[in-house]
Amino acid sequence: MPDLLPDLWFDPTKCFIAGQWISPSGGGTLPLENPSDGSVIGEIARGTAADIDAAVGAAREALSGEWGRMPAAERGRLLAAIGRKVAERVDDLAAIEAQDVGKPLKQARADAVALARYLEFYGGAADKIHGETIPYLDGYTVYTLREPHGVTAHIIPWNYPMQIIGRSVGAALTMGNAAVLKPAEEACLTALAFAAIAEEAGLPKGALNVVPGLGEEAGAALSGHAGINHISFTGSVGVGSLIQASAAANVVPVTLELGGKSPQLFFEDADLDKALPFLVNAGIQNAGQTCSASSRILVHRSRFDEVRDAMAARYAALRVGPAADDLDVGPLISAGQKEIVEGFLGMASAGEIAARGEIVADAPAGGHYVAPTLIAGVGADHRLAQDEIFGPAQVMIPFADEDEAVAIANGTQYGLVAGVWTENGGRQMRLAKAIHSGQVFINNYGAGGGVELPFGGVGKSGHGREKGFEALYGFSTLKTVAAHHG
Ligand code: NAI
Ligand code: MG
Repeated sequence: MPDLLPDLWFDPTKCFIAGQWISPSGGGTLPLENPSDGSVIGEIARGTAADIDAAVGAAREALSGEWGRMPAAERGRLLAAIGRKVAERVDDLAAIEAQDVGKPLKQARADAVALARYLEFYGGAADKIHGETIPYLDGYTVYTLREPHGVTAHIIPWNYPMQIIGRSVGAALTMGNAAVLKPAEEACLTALAFAAIAEEAGLPKGALNVVPGLGEEAGAALSGHAGINHISFTGSVGVGSLIQASAAANVVPVTLELGGKSPQLFFEDADLDKALPFLVNAGIQNAGQTCSASSRILVHRSRFDEVRDAMAARYAALRVGPAADDLDVGPLISAGQKEIVEGFLGMASAGEIAARGEIVADAPAGGHYVAPTLIAGVGADHRLAQDEIFGPAQVMIPFADEDEAVAIANGTQYGLVAGVWTENGGRQMRLAKAIHSGQVFINNYGAGGGVELPFGGVGKSGHGREKGFEALYGFSTLKTVAAHHG
């Protein structure tokens, strides 16, 4: 099992607070696990409520210092410079993420490239967002100011740390907020790597603070801290609901991105050759541990067997193994996630499993591998077709007509992304309106892609939008100035 980790340019047992690399108060650590073989390969910092308090204080101070006074154009230049430094280290960042998360190297590399691209995009946007003047009564001049919230809290998961840092911390810094980032206990290395790169690029002290640690410890201390002005959370529905409750207690805005059960709808006139790679990849990318994974494939009855057989052939060819081998699918993040996913897959009978991929023979026994599983034959109301599995599994469901397709698509508690495969223009437009979700892709599917595209959910998928220009409104607040001058 090759060791992917390059020489780290930061100390993972430290927190990054006020521009200093400091040991967590109490000196605690957590094990750093390699999901590809289950071995413990090091330690990471276990930040506490005291560290969160120091980080929030440092962020507050940054707002009244150099960072708070920095003109928008200069902030943008700085973000772009951080992005260029990220781009220079894509290979190292990819190796770190592959080892930490268990992602095949190519997929980890795509995340690092996306992080650089977010910073390029937001760096360019920093000085292009502004308020407006509003016609009002005689003798008045009224205008609006777009201002940062202040201290923004970012609680992120382990599945796409770099992409989520890009879309969340990147947008918050663009608007002049000072950020406190609590990465997931399962994968915090690239968050610390990013902080070290930002420091090197000259980000003023306290503008970004990173406190690794446990969710119920550092995470809860951050979301409940009275000194924060906005929370951005990506993760499970259960924790999202807790976060919204702590935001309510402090009356601060919150953005929640909580995953989904996103469908792709394949109609009788759709082009299977074009659709097939998207149908499958959107389900197995990052071993299915993707908020916007397409875990339901809805197919018109007249094409169902054909699509199932074509997908089954792809599934049978999928190879699962260690991140360093860069196969189609890596391990899941942890033994716990593997157990959850296997629990779900155990609900399908042998006859309902259309195909499975293969775990390579030399995959380390301690790795958290699950063979990709295509399920066909369970109803739209089955738990496999309703719950977020968060593993390499997709459920295929037939439909008779457009109305039924929409009813099934909208028939879960989630609504994050949908894909529609049809050549019929009218149907494309109707479905884009009829489907309840934050994004609809027509004749393509973009699990995670497109930094320019506003992203977020409806229903239990959450609320608020990240990515694109839209995120900059979410990470800022509007002040109206009404001047009476006669
Ligand atoms: P989680 O929601 O527990 O973890 C996400 C983040 O929240 C982590 O940084 C964690 O430390 C933090 N956290 C946990 N408890 C907290 C608390 N009480 N207060 C504040 N922060 C807290 O997700 P977990 O346990 O890693 O995964 C469980 C399931 O959640 C997955 O199977 C999947 O269905 C879903 N999930 C969805 C994600 C998405 O991209 N939308 C990402 C990760 C998980
Ligand atoms: Mg958890």
